[in-house]
Amino acid sequence: MDETKNIINNDFKDVMLNRHSYREFKPDVKISREEISEMLEEATTAPSACNLQSWHFVVCDDAAGKEKAHSVMMPFNYPQTDSCSAIIFVLGDTQSHYKYRDVWNKACENGQITPEKRDQVFKTFLPLYEHADRSFLEKDATIDGSMVALQLLLTARSHGYEANPMSGYAFDKVASTFDLDDERYIPVTAIAIGKPAGDFTKSVRYNVKELTDFI
Ligand SMILES: Cc1cc2nc3c(=O)[nH]c(=O)nc-3n(C[C@H](O)[C@H](O)[C@H](O)COP(=O)(O)O)c2cc1C
Repeated sequence: MDETKNIINNDFKDVMLNRHSYREFKPDVKISREEISEMLEEATTAPSACNLQSWHFVVCDDAAGKEKAHSVMMPFNYPQTDSCSAIIFVLGDTQSHYKYRDVWNKACENGQITPEKRDQVFKTFLPLYEHADRSFLEKDATIDGSMVALQLLLTARSHGYEANPMSGYAFDKVASTFDLDDERYIPVTAIAIGKPAGDFTKSVRYNVKELTDFI
């Protein structure tokens, strides 16, 4: 089976450099759950700290889900929320280290690493997380979540869609709205995906020279 059959744009330059935030979508376009899952699978090739993969997704792609998404949004995000094919909330998982052993045991079973190397990983990295304070775990999960979110924005383009990442929503209501444990899951971003209706607003960037110190 070709896992990437829905990638219709494989031109990296175009995918990255021509990505823009679109805020109005064609409301009748449906993206199948199979394709959404494919995009998520592609996005989760993102790097993550210690390969903890501290992310979690909530997909709102039907009327009930979209209504829930709308209920947490700030009004300036209603147009994209209401017209997109799907909104994907990307959350950070502050307890990803609880199942950390699984991923390394699997790598070991697959013959990708030796048992000695696996045990070394457990000894080196697990204590960092087991003794970490809340702020460390939140930062770590936010960075992992941001990595996967950007990949999702790009993979959406490669599937022929456009997207808009959004932080303009009630962060404190997200977990409870989607029946998630708010101790464990923290919102990172919400991404509206669909076929654009209308144009994007061209954005400007600062000069990299002003942002960079070569030392
Ligand atoms: C963390 C983050 C939060 C954002 N929140 C919103 C938002 O709530 N609503 C919105 O319309 N755009 C939002 N955006 C999109 C930015 O406005 C947009 O990326 C920026 O203006 C640059 O434009 P571009 O995406 O077209 O390159 C957000 C982007 C990021 C990265």
